Amino acid sequence: MTIAVERCNASRVTDVDFNNIPFGRIFADHMFEVDFLNGTWQNPRIRPYGNLSLSPALSCMHYGQAIFEGMKAQRNSHGEIILFRPRENWKRLNFSARRMQMPEIPEDLFMDALISWVKLDHNWVPTSKGSALYIRPLMIATDDYLGVKASTTYKFLIYGCPVSSYYTEPLRIRVEETYVRAAKGGVGEAKAAGNYAASMFPASRAQSEGFHQLLWTDAVEHRFIEELGTSNFFAVVNGELYTPETEGTILRGITRDSVIQVARQQNIPVHVQPITTDQLKDWFDHGELTEAFATGTAATIAPIGIIQFREQIMNLSPSNPITTKLHSTLDDMKTGKQPDIFSWNVEIGR
Ligand code: COI
Repeated sequence: MTIAVERCNASRVTDVDFNNIPFGRIFADHMFEVDFLNGTWQNPRIRPYGNLSLSPALSCMHYGQAIFEGMKAQRNSHGEIILFRPRENWKRLNFSARRMQMPEIPEDLFMDALISWVKLDHNWVPTSKGSALYIRPLMIATDDYLGVKASTTYKFLIYGCPVSSYYTEPLRIRVEETYVRAAKGGVGEAKAAGNYAASMFPASRAQSEGFHQLLWTDAVEHRFIEELGTSNFFAVVNGELYTPETEGTILRGITRDSVIQVARQQNIPVHVQPITTDQLKDWFDHGELTEAFATGTAATIAPIGIIQFREQIMNLSPSNPITTKLHSTLDDMKTGKQPDIFSWNVEIGR
């Protein structure tokens, strides 16, 4: 499919202070847009980033048929732009689409749109260490209809913003035992907008108490650790990694999967298994829980400094040798300082 391109008159990139970028507020010059009408994706185009004109009866605004992805374009040490495992985002987007009764995006449409858009806005891919162009593919249901049924029309967009670290300090998290993020059979494993909406009220309460995020537990017993509001969870116990199985309620994080593969390649044992809150407490009480971290595209690999579980505050040491090693190995693989042994990088030029 040919992508029509309408360029903006003047780039806004020179107005951006790349040393001081707030997450998710300053958007690159252009965006990609394609519509699903009469059973096919039609009229793919790149145009200046700007508002959409939408009906107030838009079905996604009422019934929540909206899914998205998070991915990054970064520069390697030669200045070339790389996309990190983009086909994994494409697969997960389609997984979410199936679960939400939305149409899938063909691989070539997704990849062509992504690469064409990033190439056009290449000046927005930052050069400094730890920064990236954060990319937000988004699909929304666009029927203007108030009946409760799957929409027949959709819009798929790709746009993005330069970002640096999502978290700038070790995370303070609290184990949540009242509210629920996702239940088995629900949509927790899909990257559906409503999952985030449902987390806002409990997360805001935790944030007003000084925590960055909640550590969600299972919906039935609140015994099993699931994930954080923006990321997956790892514990480092006696030098080995533990993370919950995704099993239907937890987002299948691409950074999570990358960490598991990198750790195993470095002979760090990884246990993908259920973790109870009592187990976590026990590890901490016996001095075996030495580190914990969050993984996500936006969060990258973010060390956790404090975990509050009921009345107990688990203070983790600020020295995070395993977290730091995994973070720098993954970064070095993306920037070309270490070989890309898993062939994760898709280079798209400068
Ligand atoms: C990402 O890490 O890309 C996400 O989508 C999480 C989001 C809440 C920032």
